[in-house]
Amino acid sequence: MLDLEYIREEFPITKKSFQVYGSTEPRNLIYLDHGASTHPCNTVLNKYIDFIKNYYSNVHRGKHYLSMISTELFDRVYETILKFINASKDDNAIVLTANTTSALDMTAWLMKDYEGITLVSLMEHHSNDLPHRHRGEIMHFGVNPDGTLDMTDLENKLNTNKVKLVAVTGASNVTGFITDIHKIAALAHKHGARILIDAAQLLAHKSIDVKPNDDPEHIDFLAAAGHKAYAPFGSAFLFGPRDVLDRVEPYVPGGGTVLFVSENDYIYANSPDRHQGGTPNIAGAIALAESLNFLSKAGMENIRRHEIELTEYALARLKEIPDINILGNIPADKRLAVITFNIGDINNGLVADILNHEAAIATRNGRFCAHPYLSFLLGRNDAAEIIQRIRAGEKFDIGGAVRISFGIFNNEKEVDYVIDNLKMIAGRNWKANYDDTPEYFDCKGVQLSAS
Ligand SMILES: Cc1ncc(COP(=O)(O)O)c(C=O)c1O
Repeated sequence: MLDLEYIREEFPITKKSFQVYGSTEPRNLIYLDHGASTHPCNTVLNKYIDFIKNYYSNVHRGKHYLSMISTELFDRVYETILKFINASKDDNAIVLTANTTSALDMTAWLMKDYEGITLVSLMEHHSNDLPHRHRGEIMHFGVNPDGTLDMTDLENKLNTNKVKLVAVTGASNVTGFITDIHKIAALAHKHGARILIDAAQLLAHKSIDVKPNDDPEHIDFLAAAGHKAYAPFGSAFLFGPRDVLDRVEPYVPGGGTVLFVSENDYIYANSPDRHQGGTPNIAGAIALAESLNFLSKAGMENIRRHEIELTEYALARLKEIPDINILGNIPADKRLAVITFNIGDINNGLVADILNHEAAIATRNGRFCAHPYLSFLLGRNDAAEIIQRIRAGEKFDIGGAVRISFGIFNNEKEVDYVIDNLKMIAGRNWKANYDDTPEYFDCKGVQLSAS
């Protein structure tokens, strides 16, 4: 079981408060935007700061103490990531990247000269759709009215096309829907395709097992980032097979990617160095490994159980809100702790504004970089018209929804507070006037100190 009291103590952000509109006392921040980025916990912060203070040095080749220690800490990161996703290093490698997007794009780059198309689900974050469009031919497979993946459509498209890669999210950043990645892997492999899992949302919330390379359910490529797993920004990774990674030209050729260079020739190194041109984010990578160790210690099963319980509770209580429309119809045990909704015809931006300015509740709103999925879930068929209007230079609201996404430290008391405030909004009882440029909050006046 998760020791929630200890976990909350681990996160300094749980102590943060803001002066909200209409209240004389500061309000404790309720952070429900873990789907975007998660805060580092003390263990991770301490490791990060300790490295920067005491061992800051570039890795590899240096013969001095700092460089040797830095190299040792950095090289351990690969092992930690491999262990966390239950991967073998014999035929695979981890390449460190800046974010999930660059890891996903790296996969599109690695696979670009293979024969066939990439099948991309309609549920994807743009980061697992646009890179594939950019680097070759793609085809989308659909989603069902309840927001889940249309497996029949996937299978039909695998049957009728030469597919090289199936690119699919491990869990949706909109509905939280958890993909059956191993079932899709087996299907893809049966048709001679490889699979890429976007694990941006999955990494910190559900255990991942990429399985052995000769298992039909093996995951070929997997991309994820530390900033959604309680590590700082700027550190992410791609897991992939050596037979592809070491065959393709470096993603960014340059320092660190070669074994030898002459005036008119060069020999590239194998992965990971091959695709890690330039100085990597050493401190970020070390912090990412520390956060994975923190998650392992807390227990991924415990984390998952806690977040399912919280989601069940939140879904049940959200039903009390008049006119609420939750996007997708996915039970708590088939989704991550991500819930996206609208309240009647109240604008999603207004709901997020009110929650923030009157209750210090941090949510996200809009279309969550998943425009096609949002169009589908909102039942809107006006994508072509929207494109036309934007091209014509019009500025307008493209519609969307409000998202709450829980993390390891959230609790039921916070859910209750959110429900109270959503009831206030549904009853149109907000205090401030949101019609004009808001005067109630001025970023320039915010104390940006560490307090
Ligand atoms: C499912 C999913 N994929 C990819 C990304 C992009 O991640 P990053 O910001 O690390 O590039 C996100 C970010 O929200 C996401 O939710």
